[in-house]
Amino acid sequence: MAKILEKRLIREPDVFYYRLEAPLISRKAKPGQFVIIRLHENGERIPLSLADINPEEGTISLIVMAVGKTTTEMSMMKQGNEILDLCGPLGQPTHIHTVGKVVLVGGGFGVAPLYPIAHAFKDAGNDVVIIMGARSKDLLIYENEFNRVCDRVIITTDDGSRGIKGFVTEALQKELEKGGVDLVLSVGPAIMMQNVSQTTEPFDVKTIVSLNPIMVDGTGMCGGCRVLIGGETRFACVDGPEFDGHQVDWDNLMNRQKKYVNHEKLSFERWKQKHTNMLCE
Ligand code: NAD
Ligand code: FES
Repeated sequence: MAKILEKRLIREPDVFYYRLEAPLISRKAKPGQFVIIRLHENGERIPLSLADINPEEGTISLIVMAVGKTTTEMSMMKQGNEILDLCGPLGQPTHIHTVGKVVLVGGGFGVAPLYPIAHAFKDAGNDVVIIMGARSKDLLIYENEFNRVCDRVIITTDDGSRGIKGFVTEALQKELEKGGVDLVLSVGPAIMMQNVSQTTEPFDVKTIVSLNPIMVDGTGMCGGCRVLIGGETRFACVDGPEFDGHQVDWDNLMNRQKKYVNHEKLSFERWKQKHTNMLCE
């Protein structure tokens, strides 16, 4: 059981911040890792990236967008409620080392897992720049947090309502043209990470991406999270989630991500129907 110590809406209407009591996980967890949660006995298991780790207070933080059945159920939980299973830390941590200039690229609510990573690269003595993009200014999150940690925060919005107008890749291109970038690390939608990797390739800059395929057990047993890296099958849950972006088979990843979309929609519809019936009774 993991108690929700704090829950707040951080982006209207559906992105929530959760701080969970997790003393053992917080002592072992490192930036770049994730947890798998199961809300209740009949719940599904879903992977969630760590948005913060606080071993002193024995907590971890998660940022979750209510998009499907489980994330919507989670959004209905309140401070003081308990999550039945919290399993982690899972996956390989980010390889934190002193490289020089690190450019982090985050899209939408996918920027959140970059926060502990930014901290760790900064503590290791790097110059840390973040490019954070959202469709419009109202969808930006964690700007204040990154302002505290990073040397520079570059904002892009698709509609130009804040910062540079366009995708994160346009700001990244300019940063690469200036030179001196030693490492790029990206978290966000798969299509964004693919384009980030394509942008860095001509500059020969090492590019790490955090993949988010479908996961079930999270411990290397089911094969649900398999991805093709340099033509070889790897399991994102135990070998990743971070991989060399220039080696990822993006078509394979995105096709596999779409495999259960109809099942997920159906399950969400059934849950909403059941929930509405319960509220009416
Ligand atoms: P979104 O679709 O609004 O995109 C955010 C930004 O990504 C855009 O503003 C743009 O700058 C960039 N982007 C989008 N499409 C692009 C393209 N074709 N080329 C270049 N850049 C592009 O993001 P959202 O709806 O907030 O969703 C966040 C995403 O982050 C989800 O897909 C979620 O699965 C992912 N995520 C991943 C992890 C992880 O891998 N560990 C963790 C959390 C969230
Ligand atoms: Fe089952 Fe990775 S989630 S092997």
